[in-house]
Amino acid sequence: MTQKIILITGGTGYIGSHAVVAFEQAGYQTVTIDNLSNSSLDAFDGVEKILGYRPIFRQGDIRDWDFLKGVFFEFAFDGVIHFAGLKAVGESCKKPILYHNNNVGGSIELFRIMEEYGVRHIVFSSSATVYHPDNQSPLTEDMRLGTTNPYGTTKLVIEKILEDLARDAQWSVISLRYFNPIGAHPSGYIGEIPSGIPNNLLPYIMDVAIGKRDKVLVFGDDYDTRDGTGVRDYIDVCDLVDAHISAYEYHDSGYTPINIGTGIWVSVLEMIELVQSAIDQTISYEITSRRSGDIAECYANVSLAKKLLWWTATRTIKDSIMNGWNFVSNR
Ligand code: NAD
Ligand code: WQD
Repeated sequence: MTQKIILITGGTGYIGSHAVVAFEQAGYQTVTIDNLSNSSLDAFDGVEKILGYRPIFRQGDIRDWDFLKGVFFEFAFDGVIHFAGLKAVGESCKKPILYHNNNVGGSIELFRIMEEYGVRHIVFSSSATVYHPDNQSPLTEDMRLGTTNPYGTTKLVIEKILEDLARDAQWSVISLRYFNPIGAHPSGYIGEIPSGIPNNLLPYIMDVAIGKRDKVLVFGDDYDTRDGTGVRDYIDVCDLVDAHISAYEYHDSGYTPINIGTGIWVSVLEMIELVQSAIDQTISYEITSRRSGDIAECYANVSLAKKLLWWTATRTIKDSIMNGWNFVSNR
């Protein structure tokens, strides 16, 4: 059987680099494209160490039509896993045009070239951020959509474009709505490298653990949750990329959005406690005011992923913390 070639956009990023490893190990040939705007080839060095060879990489921007044309001319793709995009919520509020241009504009160019070359199979990185903040968790895929920041809006707009495209039955489209990805590959060679001050909770806790920052600022302890702090559904990055393989192999025409989480909810204080016991180190923290735009609870109903993809998360939160810690302390 000939090996299927898949295009991975954003494949030198945090989740994309784990996906390159997982797809290669599952028997696919991957071609990664990335403009390195939020990553570096260090991630690919890590990928090479894990695999024992270097997968194909072409540097370029998904908004660059000539670049895309060159790549699609060079390789006969079976389908696409689309990670490329900017993801910082705060930055998106300051630079909405950049986010719409990069995420929406780039995706349109990508879908255009796919259509031109008859490549109509795609798995898209969406986010739980597309759910309206008034929904009550656990969130199901049919709940009301609505966003609170430009980053989230770009994800929702891309979902809508894909839904429109998939009215043509030749297209097979899955949007995976990730909850909160954490952790790293168990080898310690690839993981999350936030640029500047981490926005996300676990990378911030890790910075405190390695002594880079004094204490974790806990954004509010007056939410209507178990201990008053925000509750989220943290999904291991290796489980997450496994879900992409299942989603890619689930061939159905049309458009299907699917939650990818664990269904397990963890508060900020519980996460700090879990890290402390996993790495046997005290993590200082201070309760501060709520962060604007945050909601109390966000966790998934994961029944659809189980039903359609036969996928379920298998790693524990302790596994994710230990692998994340292994990666951070190796660096
Ligand atoms: P990341 O920033 O590590 O990876 C994204 C990659 O895309 C980067 O390597 C960046 O250089 C590249 N990129 C950005 N714009 C590009 C362009 N125009 N052309 C080519 N390459 C471009 O982010 P990640 O955490 O790996 O996230 C991957 C995807 O998953 C993103 O689309 C993100 O929005 C989505 N997502 C992430 C999270 C999360 O918490 N990490 C949650 C939900 C959804
Ligand atoms: C988790 C909890 C914070 C940092 C974001 C994006 C979302 C998605 C995933 C891409 C919350 C609290 C955090 C800190 C804290 N990304 N916290 N101190 O906000 O659920 O989601 O990343 O699609 O779009 O919005 O994740 O890790 O920032 O926060 O107390 O220093 O930790 O208030 O309750 P969030 P997070």
